[in-house]
Amino acid sequence: MTFTPTDYKPYDFANRRHIGPSPSEMEEMLKVVGVESLDQLIDETIPAAIRQKEPLDFGKPKSERELLWHMRQVAKKNQVFTSMIGQGFYGTVTPSVIQRNILENPAWYTAYTPYQPEISQGRLEALLNYQTMVADLTGLEIANASLLDEASAAAEAMTMARRLSKSKANAFFVDENCHPQNIAVIETHAEPLGIEIEVGDPEAMDASRYFGAIFQYPGTYGHIRDFTAQIAALHEVGALGIVIADPLALTILKEPGAMGADIAVGSTQRFGVPMGYGGPHAAYMACRDSMKRAMPGRLVGVSVDSHGHRALRLALQAREQHIRREKATSNVCTAQALLAVMASFYAVFHGPEGLKAIAQRIHRKTVRVARALEQAGFTVEPEAFFDTITVEVGPLQGVIFDEAARQRINLRKVGRTKLGISLDETTRPATIERLWSAFGIHRRDDDFTPEYRIPDALQRTSEYLTHPVFHMNRAETEMMRYMRRLADRDLALDRAMIPLGSCTMKLNAATEMMPLSWPEFSQIHPFAPADQVAGYTELIEDLAEKLCQITGYDAMSMQPNSGATGEYAGLLTIRAWHRSRGEGHRNICLIPVSAHGTNPASAQMAGMKVVAVKSAPNGDIDVEDFRRKAEEAGDNLAACMITYPSTHGVFEETVREICDITHEFGGQVYIDGANLNAMVGLVKPGEIGGDVSHLNLHKTFAIPHGGGGPGMGPIGVKAHLAPFLPGHPMTDGRPGAVAAAPFGSASILTISWAYILMMGGAGLTQASKVAILSANYIAKRLEGAYDVLFKGKGGRVAHECILDTRPFADSAHVTVEDIAKRLIDNGFHAPTMSWPVQGTLMIEPTESETKGELDRFCTAMLAIREEIRAIEEGRMDAENNPLKNAPHTVEDLVGEWNRPYTREQGCFPPGAFRIDKYWPPVNRVDNVYGDRHLVCTCPPMEAYSEAAE
Ligand SMILES: Cc1ncc(COP(=O)(O)O)c(C=O)c1O
Repeated sequence: MTFTPTDYKPYDFANRRHIGPSPSEMEEMLKVVGVESLDQLIDETIPAAIRQKEPLDFGKPKSERELLWHMRQVAKKNQVFTSMIGQGFYGTVTPSVIQRNILENPAWYTAYTPYQPEISQGRLEALLNYQTMVADLTGLEIANASLLDEASAAAEAMTMARRLSKSKANAFFVDENCHPQNIAVIETHAEPLGIEIEVGDPEAMDASRYFGAIFQYPGTYGHIRDFTAQIAALHEVGALGIVIADPLALTILKEPGAMGADIAVGSTQRFGVPMGYGGPHAAYMACRDSMKRAMPGRLVGVSVDSHGHRALRLALQAREQHIRREKATSNVCTAQALLAVMASFYAVFHGPEGLKAIAQRIHRKTVRVARALEQAGFTVEPEAFFDTITVEVGPLQGVIFDEAARQRINLRKVGRTKLGISLDETTRPATIERLWSAFGIHRRDDDFTPEYRIPDALQRTSEYLTHPVFHMNRAETEMMRYMRRLADRDLALDRAMIPLGSCTMKLNAATEMMPLSWPEFSQIHPFAPADQVAGYTELIEDLAEKLCQITGYDAMSMQPNSGATGEYAGLLTIRAWHRSRGEGHRNICLIPVSAHGTNPASAQMAGMKVVAVKSAPNGDIDVEDFRRKAEEAGDNLAACMITYPSTHGVFEETVREICDITHEFGGQVYIDGANLNAMVGLVKPGEIGGDVSHLNLHKTFAIPHGGGGPGMGPIGVKAHLAPFLPGHPMTDGRPGAVAAAPFGSASILTISWAYILMMGGAGLTQASKVAILSANYIAKRLEGAYDVLFKGKGGRVAHECILDTRPFADSAHVTVEDIAKRLIDNGFHAPTMSWPVQGTLMIEPTESETKGELDRFCTAMLAIREEIRAIEEGRMDAENNPLKNAPHTVEDLVGEWNRPYTREQGCFPPGAFRIDKYWPPVNRVDNVYGDRHLVCTCPPMEAYSEAAE
């Protein structure tokens, strides 16, 4: 027998696994698009003048097995010590059922932000549980879900207090017992807004001098104090009191609400989310009900669907940057949804008794540690504490610190003569014995007599987590099924294409996701000594270097935790550069009207004045208007913020001109990198005139969206700006920190690194080319049925296309929302709706979708067009039709059917799977009702049973 040779490469990740269309499918797609080759399409799409000259070359790409082997070698260079550093990051036990069914489950991590509530009821319920948990623990009325980290949440709380405070003071008081990274990020946010920060002792605070004050609870050195008197004094003068509180401590300590606090913030990391060398973890914010409209971040609320059933959705969205732009309360967009979901399940898993037991055990262990140290003659502070103590060791600081390290324990150096020790739920008697031995104490940890060092007045007396969801049967069977039930309500990337414009919902490959769960990456404290993190250092440096090569920038900061934080950090970098040249007066930022809402919101946070620039009729930036505005700004021009390819989905020919004009007037060019997926290996933003860009690693570089986060928004800059990149108090001590950890959510950098190493330079370039092919394929296939609003000079779109659905409002009373909801019946997540142009759909298929899935989507869109035509031609009722009634649920199918179309037409439109049909759990959700009757915590149990009836 003879062998038939094959060119199939089983281990080729880029072309066989990551890129959806097979070579033969690509041939067919090119034919439809009307080009001979992929390169011809790229030449027709991207202006020749801006193409990069040299191909990307990162050497031979790694197969999946090679990658995992390589990552293992790098992981081994990190040393996993027991962390007793504390300072906001703690060891925690991630329940396996959460690790396997949430963190490592694509049904949860590949989901998009729940802007389409009908297909997001599962994650919305988990986030509502989170909000309920936070509101209960803090003793405040309303909580969001969620913020990026504790430090930025503290800064957001400060600016929120400024918006709400009745005091005219310009200064803000910061408790000297706040963690250093919190103080640093608060200072970063305060400076451009002209807020004066005074750090001091709360006992000596003169409330009349401040519009607000923030206190850490427990303090960074372990103190637990009641801030009731300070907050009352603040209220006397119309100022607000904010408490940064550890949610685990709040299970046994008096809650901020009971102290009169107006706002509470903190990190939910120790609710089962590994430290990950800094993240990702979710921060929370809770406040009084009267303040909810001023609260940043996303808020889940309860509403009803078109049949009056209970349904969840994001509430009060008019607060967000999408709508309010530079008047927005904050720029928070991608937050930490997946990590908030994990934390909420941790609370469901343990319930209030379990959480309390964990907190009490930690406290008793801390008391045992303190008692032995005191008996050995050490002075232990403070008298009252929860899980952290500070020990005076005089000249022995270095010796004990080093001895603890020899015992593989990290302590915190406090000043020159003290050591900080924080315990957590992972601390075991053997750990305590090792710790003692570092202090020269050799004894067994076997005296378990309970002892508490929390004064009665500071003990919690109120109930929390009373809702039935926190009291369900704790058998793993039940937990697993609850998680599964919620996941099944949602439509994530593991079921269907999510064609979201500007959001690049590409494959998050399993191999890329694996290393982040390894202890060498997940169990590292962000402030661990440098010699224990050689693996992370190698990873971060190599990733930064590769991202610099991809973007054409000279330096990269890995600190920002989201695209919007990247924008903010980039603008602060520009600001610091202007100031260094004696041009601190430059404060005008030109931003096209089509820009993403985070751009103007970030600019105002960075102390800049936003001047909007018009779009030309073809969708490009109106160059004349741009020049005029730049001239008007003159010596005050600080920067422009543009997106490339544009938010209209085209490679504008005039991008260099825009950059030149900005430079001519002394400004700096910020290129928003959200659309980098169209450019990798083809165009470098740093070569076309950009001075700074953020990259959304959760778009272009394979980090999953997690239902609204995590994300990473590193910024690349040209050399002249490098000295002004964000500093950090725990590394270089320079100002400008924008995140709690020096490398943001470091553990998910493993995903982007794995992606780049497996794709290689050619694979990454091919991915961008295929992303462009797929968008043009969809545009071509839908030609005639829908108008593509904007195209480049060569008649091509970039990696996304905007369909104009506005004409159907007149011709058939069909809105863009009707189409979006009808797509749910077809088994799709809707594209981005009404942005950047009202009444349009922005479709970005990405390179990862197969031709089969692209065709299924086109089939669905064409069928929808036929339904619209039927209404236009009077063959279908204008109000009672499948579009207006979409989405259809099982209840619709089995209920009474008095509609002028069949059940088949309603529930199984073309494109919908027959067997694997996705059924939305609710009908169309009523947003207005929910905002009028705002409920943002779990409704009482009767509401669940009513809904089920
Ligand atoms: C063009 C653009 N800029 C900035 C952002 C903000 O990024 P992030 O959500 O990571 O904060 C987005 C997010 O969708 C975007 O599309």
